[in-house]
Amino acid sequence: MATMQPNQPFLADVQEIRRRARQHIEKGAVTEGYKADLETVLRLLNEALATEIVCVLRYKRHQFMATGLEAQAVAQEFAEHAAEEQSHADQIAQRITQLGGEPNFSPDGLLTRSHSEYVEGATLLDMVKEDLVAERIAIESYSEIIRYLGDNDPTSRRLMEEILAKEEEHAEDMRNLIERVGKAGL
Ligand SMILES: [Fe+2]
Ligand SMILES: [Fe+2]
Repeated sequence: MATMQPNQPFLADVQEIRRRARQHIEKGAVTEGYKADLETVLRLLNEALATEIVCVLRYKRHQFMATGLEAQAVAQEFAEHAAEEQSHADQIAQRITQLGGEPNFSPDGLLTRSHSEYVEGATLLDMVKEDLVAERIAIESYSEIIRYLGDNDPTSRRLMEEILAKEEEHAEDMRNLIERVGKAGL
């Protein structure tokens, strides 16, 4: 295919697009123009899904194990993050089914599929540090997924970009909490 010049009008072969749209309608949103390697995208999205589920579980554990002077405020923050990770998991699972795949919710191998780790942490400070580490892992691996998707699957890329922005906020929240908990000597 020739590279499009900036001043050239957009010329799509509408007849051809119409013809192709009628083929393989069982594939739903995935058309012949889908440029990414579907199998790889589904694997990466399932890894992101596992990452989110592990993050939900870790934040939930921390929510109920938070003790000390700052416990209530910190537990509240953990609870909010758990809910947001759950919503990320839902959005990713929905995109997987939209692409004709199956979201993997199996507890079997969950930690292997996940990029982030499940560390319980002995003290409140340990917990917050572990959460920050997990967010930093998610930030790096989602950034790589986004670079991989490039222009080949803009919808999945946009979803992962939105989630990445949220993980960056989470990391900032945890960094601020480390200071607060550190000052309180917990
Ligand atoms: Fe998340
Ligand atoms: Fe997060």
